[in-house]
Amino acid sequence: MRLCVIGTGYVGLVSGTCFADLGNIVQCVDKDINKVNNLIKGKSPIYEPGLDEVIKKNFNAGRLIFTTDTSKAVNNSDIIFICVGTPNKKNSQSVDLSHVFKVVKEVIQCAKSKKILITKSTVPVGTGDQIELMFRKSKKKGFSIVSNPEFLREGEAIRDFRYPDRVVIGSDNKKVFSIMKDLYQPLTNKGAKFFTTTRRAAELIKYASNAFLATKITFINELANLCEKSNINIEDISLGMGSDLRIGSRFLRAGPAYGGSCFPKDTKGLVSTGEKFKTNLSLVKSVIKSNQNRKKLLVKRIDKIIGKKIKDKKIAFLGVTFKPNTDDMRDSTSLSMIPYLSKKGAKVSYYEPSGKKNHFSRFKNCVFVNNIKDACINADLVILHTEWDEFKSIDFKKIIKNNHFRIYDLRNLYNFNEMLNKKIKYYSIGRPNIN
Ligand SMILES: NC(=O)c1ccc[n+]([C@@H]2O[C@H](COP(=O)([O-])OP(=O)(O)OC[C@H]3O[C@@H](n4cnc5c(N)ncnc54)[C@H](O)[C@@H]3O)[C@@H](O)[C@H]2O)c1
Repeated sequence: MRLCVIGTGYVGLVSGTCFADLGNIVQCVDKDINKVNNLIKGKSPIYEPGLDEVIKKNFNAGRLIFTTDTSKAVNNSDIIFICVGTPNKKNSQSVDLSHVFKVVKEVIQCAKSKKILITKSTVPVGTGDQIELMFRKSKKKGFSIVSNPEFLREGEAIRDFRYPDRVVIGSDNKKVFSIMKDLYQPLTNKGAKFFTTTRRAAELIKYASNAFLATKITFINELANLCEKSNINIEDISLGMGSDLRIGSRFLRAGPAYGGSCFPKDTKGLVSTGEKFKTNLSLVKSVIKSNQNRKKLLVKRIDKIIGKKIKDKKIAFLGVTFKPNTDDMRDSTSLSMIPYLSKKGAKVSYYEPSGKKNHFSRFKNCVFVNNIKDACINADLVILHTEWDEFKSIDFKKIIKNNHFRIYDLRNLYNFNEMLNKKIKYYSIGRPNIN
């Protein structure tokens, strides 16, 4: 099939590339000319394991085209996916749909024949209706407006695209369902469930899924607080609860506040949708509040671990992204921790496998180093922030040249008993302190 993907970020680039890999001709459009030029030169703008190779293969085969020319891409395609960002509005919980509507206006202006226009971006209930209205007003006929929310996770995006649990299509058009079924057949053949529903339901399924996962994380994080005070290991609770198939073990790992580009904005987006429809989603509101409190709580815990005198203390961060295998910094806990510590006069060094982050450049006493050893040497405190594989087996006693260092493990990456045996002063999440 001939596809156009507008917005080549984490979702658009992965989806476009993987659709091309299934044999489709895909035109990937982005308004960011640097991004497009780099992609044409074979440089991916994002860190996503395995993506570069699949881009190269399909680009060289002529199935994957990168362009800034929306009109050409739209008119050379039958199906258009909108994959632009849908952040929260500034100082508001509601969703900023300006990028989506801008794309819709561009499509209305340039399309010379009817198309299937799909929102893969996460959009609130009723957005498809608004898009349909825009088309009706423009008098452009024959366009089908469809919702096909995306569920891939950064860091595992290629696998998630190729082996989704389900493909959700929201439309009221039988022909559209049949075309979409054909498009996704290579994935449904491997076991993905093909689920058709109304457009509004498809839009809500995405928000409901993210809010539920955020709730699971928040629940176990709050229980971790209780475990720390009652001398219980949270991992026993996760295991004991998660073995119940009704509950399931995933998303029951205690850690920092949830972050990333989706959960924080989508929980807020769902609350604002609730308000629009005069429905109080009090549980989701509590989740958002608890998650915000968690950021403060974890920062305050640093004070407790190293004492009030943070000034001149050497603090090393291992990882700063919101999760491993991605370069995405959106809503990462490090964005509240590092500024706090820098302002208090700590000397912060960080090593991040996906590279230096501009977010911390304005802090004079915060430096990026390009290996674990240089980050940790002489550290008073090592904060294991993101559980990249290369942090799993560090011999801290060997690389840190003082005997009073402490480790604050935000992901419970290290084995508690091992830390105990090595007599390392060790603080983790929902487990007793070793001090
Ligand atoms: N990142 C994820 O893990 C993830 C997962 C599932 C769903 N989503 C949803 O997918 C959507 C996209 O998220 P993302 O993380 O890929 O965003 P992103 O910010 O990484 O990428 C968006 C891209 O769209 C481009 N763009 C914006 N306006 C444009 C226009 N008018 N024409 C052409 N290009 C334009 C931007 O330059 C950017 O490259 C969001 O709604 C998000 O909630 C994201």
